[in-house]
Amino acid sequence: MHSDLARILITEEQIAARVRDLGQQITADYAEQGDLLLVGVLKGCAMFMVDLARSISCELAMDFIAIASYGASTESSGVVRMLKDLDTDIAGRHVLIVEDIIDSGLTLAYLRGQLQRRNPASLRICTLLNKPERRTADVAIDYLGFDIPNEFVVGYGLDYAERYRNLPYIAVLKPEVYTDV
Ligand code: IMP
Ligand code: MG
Repeated sequence: MHSDLARILITEEQIAARVRDLGQQITADYAEQGDLLLVGVLKGCAMFMVDLARSISCELAMDFIAIASYGASTESSGVVRMLKDLDTDIAGRHVLIVEDIIDSGLTLAYLRGQLQRRNPASLRICTLLNKPERRTADVAIDYLGFDIPNEFVVGYGLDYAERYRNLPYIAVLKPEVYTDV
């Protein structure tokens, strides 16, 4: 284990099993209606998005959106900026937002509002991780990987200052790694 990490919270095997379950659930829910569009929120969603897509067996399309979140801080500013919009028109389509983690909920509340205005046929949210203790904005989660405690985590796409995204597991970052910046 990397020396910046306090402990592994969710192993590679646990992630894989949960992602498979979520894929089956999503397949069952969307198989009938069709026209599923997965919208990944870059960059944190990267690993989860590709693994989830491979575990869904109905037809789907993928698109990505990029929004600015924390930069090199561990607290949400509440100010959300869109860095890259979708390539596709989502009107009349069944949109499923794919996120790495919901913390305060501010990022997703903003994003959901933006996408809802474009009149999708349906709009749901799938997140790998959720920190329920930290919620300030009201966001309903339709598909959830894991509830986690209020600690800063990295790995499997999640970063601190763009580092640790390539770890295959989810781990708690030692507070001293980010308290002295
Ligand atoms: P929110 O707006 O507070 O819900 O923050 C959501 C975004 O903050 C996520 O998409 C992540 O990019 C980032 N974030 C929140 N908590 C963590 C964490 O524990 N580790 C890494 N990134 C996080
Ligand atoms: Mg991030």
